[in-house]
Amino acid sequence: MGSGRLAMSGSEPVIRPFRDGDEVAINEGFNRVFGLDRPLSEWRWKFPAVPEGRWIMLAEDVGGRLLAHYGASPMQLQAGDLVVRAGQPVDVYSTPEARRTKVFTHCYRAFIEAFGNRDDLPLMYGFPGGVHYEMGLTQLAYEPMGPVGYWRRAVGRGRRVWLPRYRVVRGFDPEAADELWARARARYPAAGIRDGSWLGRRFTGRPGVEYVFLTARHKTRAAASAVVRIVGERLLWADLVWDGEDPRALVELDYAVDAVGLRSGCTEAELWLRGDDEAAAGLTRLGWSARPHPENLRMVARAFHPDLDLRDIARRVYVTMGDSDLV
Ligand SMILES: CC(C)(COP(=O)(O)OP(=O)(O)OC[C@H]1O[C@@H](n2cnc3c(N)ncnc32)[C@H](O)[C@@H]1OP(=O)(O)O)[C@@H](O)C(=O)NCCC(=O)NCCS
Repeated sequence: MGSGRLAMSGSEPVIRPFRDGDEVAINEGFNRVFGLDRPLSEWRWKFPAVPEGRWIMLAEDVGGRLLAHYGASPMQLQAGDLVVRAGQPVDVYSTPEARRTKVFTHCYRAFIEAFGNRDDLPLMYGFPGGVHYEMGLTQLAYEPMGPVGYWRRAVGRGRRVWLPRYRVVRGFDPEAADELWARARARYPAAGIRDGSWLGRRFTGRPGVEYVFLTARHKTRAAASAVVRIVGERLLWADLVWDGEDPRALVELDYAVDAVGLRSGCTEAELWLRGDDEAAAGLTRLGWSARPHPENLRMVARAFHPDLDLRDIARRVYVTMGDSDLV
C-alpha cells in the first residue's frame, strides 16, 4: 500500500475484494452513511452474483470493521464494434471514522488495480455532481463526459395523434424487448445494451419499487418502449428505446407516459436523454424542454481498453436515467 494518511489508530487497514457474507456489513455501512434503511434484499437485487458478477473492493480495520466500500454495478455496453462490460460506481463511501484519511482513495485504487482492465471492467462511468464530480476528476482520474441531458415537462401536456397507428401495451415482455433492441441498437453507437435481460434485471424484482413498462406496437412489432417510475408528484421517465422508424410511435408512447403521470397525480415529468437527436427533436415538439440538471450531475468515465476512445464515446453516448442508479 502506498503512502498517505492511512494509519487508523496506529494499524494499517486491510484492503480486499468482496467475499460472501460481506454484504451485511456493506449494507449496514451504506445505511449509516446515507441515513437509509435499505433491506439486504435490495442490496442482493442491486449486486446480483450473475450474470455480470460482483465488483466490490472494501477496506476494514484490523478488527474487521468496515471503513470504506467501492462497488460497481455492471452492464454490457456497445461502443462501435466493441461490446464490453462497463461498471458504474454505486453505494461508494467511507465510514465517518475513516473520513479524510485516504482509506477511501486507497480502496478505490485497489479496485482499479484489480478490475480496471480489458477483461474485467474495461470502462467505468458515473454521474456525480458537486464535490464528488470534482473529486472524481482530481483524485480518482475520471474524465469529464458532459452533462446528463436533463428534460422536463408539466404532466397533462401529452398530445395524441388522430387515429393512432400504434397501440401502447403495458407490462414487461422480455422477448419484445429483445426484438426491439435488435432493430434499434444500430441507432445507438455508444450505449448500454437495453435488451430483455438487462431491462429485467434493472427494472423488475426491486424490493418495494414498481416500474411501469410501456411498449408502442404496430400490429405485433414493437417500435418504442418506455420505463416509468412514479415518486410522489414526479414522473421519472427512466428509459427509452426507439427504433427510429416512425415518429408517431414516439408520440403515442409519450401520450401513454403522460397518462400514467396524470392517473398517478403527478405534476412534473423528468427525463434524461442524451445521444438521440431525433428523439430529442420529437420530444421537443411534444412540449419537453432541455434544462440544466438541478444538481448539476455530469457524466464521467475512465477507460482501460486500448480501443475505447472516451472522446468519441462522449460525443455519441446514449444516456437515460436508467443508466444511473438514481431511479
Ligand atoms: C465521498 C467520500 C467517499 C470521500 O471519502 P474520504 O474518506 O473523504 O476520502 P479520502 O480521505 O480518500 O479523500 C480523498 C480526497 O477527496 C477530496 N474530498 C473528499 N471529501 C471532500 C469534501 N467534502 N470536500 C472537498 N473535497 C473532498 C479531498 O481532496 C480529499 O483529499 P484531502 O483530504 O487530502 O483533501 C466520503 O465523504 C463519503 O463517504 N461521503 C458520503 C457518501 C457519499 O456521498 N458517497 C459518494 C456518492 S457519489
